[in-house]
Amino acid sequence: MPKLVVVNRAGEEKTVEADSGLSVMEAIRDNGFDELLALCGGCCSCATCHVYVDADHAGKLEPMSEDENDLLDSSDHRNEFSRLSCQIPLSDALDGLKVTIAPED
Ligand code: FES
Repeated sequence: MPKLVVVNRAGEEKTVEADSGLSVMEAIRDNGFDELLALCGGCCSCATCHVYVDADHAGKLEPMSEDENDLLDSSDHRNEFSRLSCQIPLSDALDGLKVTIAPED
């Protein structure tokens, strides 16, 4: 079970475990973080699951799709580490991944 380190908007860090195959969004939501709205349920159409991926892990992720890229452009808080967490499947290769929940748009 890969571990995921989540930093909430208050800067508090918590390590959670989640099944491989779940998305980072599902792992965050299932562990009680209510800041991550994930309004579309993972369909890549809302951008309310925006996170910043730790620089150490950013290179290990699959490249983002055009849809994800377009949606992230709608955020005022996009930076070079921005991803939509519903579009990142967890796997053992990503064990220890650290993400920070982005500010609300
Ligand atoms: S949950 Fe809506 S885009 Fe990720």
